[in-house]
Amino acid sequence: MSQPLRSRFNQEVNKAVQSFTQSLSYDRRLYRQDIAGSVAHARMLARQGIISDKDAELIIMGLSSIRQEIEQGKFPFKDELEDIHMNIEARLTERIGDTAKKLHTARSRNDQVATDLRLYAKEAIVETLKRLRDLQRALLDLAQAHKDVIMPGYTHLQRAQPVLFAHHLLAYFEMLERDKDRFEHALDHADVMPLGSGALAGVPYPIDRAFVAQELGFSKISQNSLDAVSDRDFVLEYEAAASIAMMHLSRLSEEIVVWSSAEFNFIEVDDAFATGSSIMPQKKNPDVAELARGKTGRVYGHLLGMLTTLKGLPLSYNRDLQEDKEGFFDTVDTLLASLEVFTGMVRTLKVKAENMLLAAGGSYTLATDIADYLVRKSVPFREAYGVVGNLVKYAIDKGKSFGELSLQEYQRFSARFSEDVLSLTVGSAVAARDEIGGTAPSQVAEALKRARQIIEGS
Ligand code: ARG
Repeated sequence: MSQPLRSRFNQEVNKAVQSFTQSLSYDRRLYRQDIAGSVAHARMLARQGIISDKDAELIIMGLSSIRQEIEQGKFPFKDELEDIHMNIEARLTERIGDTAKKLHTARSRNDQVATDLRLYAKEAIVETLKRLRDLQRALLDLAQAHKDVIMPGYTHLQRAQPVLFAHHLLAYFEMLERDKDRFEHALDHADVMPLGSGALAGVPYPIDRAFVAQELGFSKISQNSLDAVSDRDFVLEYEAAASIAMMHLSRLSEEIVVWSSAEFNFIEVDDAFATGSSIMPQKKNPDVAELARGKTGRVYGHLLGMLTTLKGLPLSYNRDLQEDKEGFFDTVDTLLASLEVFTGMVRTLKVKAENMLLAAGGSYTLATDIADYLVRKSVPFREAYGVVGNLVKYAIDKGKSFGELSLQEYQRFSARFSEDVLSLTVGSAVAARDEIGGTAPSQVAEALKRARQIIEGS
């Protein structure tokens, strides 16, 4: 067939150029959005008397049969037609004849593709928000089910102070809540309808942009045609929010990898979410966590790739913009898949509470509490710090834990120590941190309640 966009050329396009410039192999995923955009456009053209009602009906019927063809896998995709937009337009001509040629009145592929991609972005964000919520719910349920479990809290990956396991999990709830806010903001920016911008300058027809926006479910209309055809900030915003969300997943991944090692032995990943080794029959690997951690790299890469593509582009549309799609689609796929498997993994995690508790009491994690004890007996904090430092040095020397020291041994380091220092425990250390944001059971109970309200309110 002769190519529809080559009347001004004397030669067919070079084969290598054809495959270099095509986007069909990946933008066919926009077929639903493209057809929806065309249906709304055709309806508007008829309402405004730019084409007849009869023509619009025929076009809309043809488009809906094309959608079926695509969904049934029967659509004859043609690489030489470059992209999904030209494929659908050409197929419409084959199916309904010359009337199809009126569809592209008052429209350009530039405002068309921007519209399709925004429709796609909006759907992707809605799905992303749902999956973020699912993971938050899984974390919250796990925290609730183990709300009394004490683990060592870490700084520098060294045991630092005891914390509630639930408190640790809720830290990730907070991160995901901020991720949710970022995606909601991205949704607001994606929710702008570009059609009517034409190739770059607007269109010389009495169109009704508000009608098209309403038909397509956009709440806003773009206010500058040059910006509308060349703006891909909404793609960047998704990729940026996804990069941060993946970074959060990657941090949790790292904890899951570490916690499920024999060295920590705090959790066990369910068999359904682990894989084996090809040579070592005993192995059970936390691959879901490792892959989520690993896939963070490609998501960052897409963000940086798109920033670089956009940098230095003069207004308005440039073909460089076609490079927006693959990275964006892969970002959406990667994030959605990561969130989905992660949620399943978290839901089935086995928690080894006894091991966590044992570790929480080891390595002198009550040192700060013993210093605070002295502060309550009127020793200035820095002095108390020095006393407990000496105490730790002594205990390490003797190979004893704090609990194994006698009151007399304590008193060698400060006369302020009395019997009650022996009753400090990981439980009392946790309970003492009883201000907003602290790890005390009463604070964590409040935090769990608040988190539940957030989940249920959305
Ligand atoms: N495939 C193109 C893209 O994804 C569609 C827009 C083409 N516009 C143009 N003037 N060549 O950006």
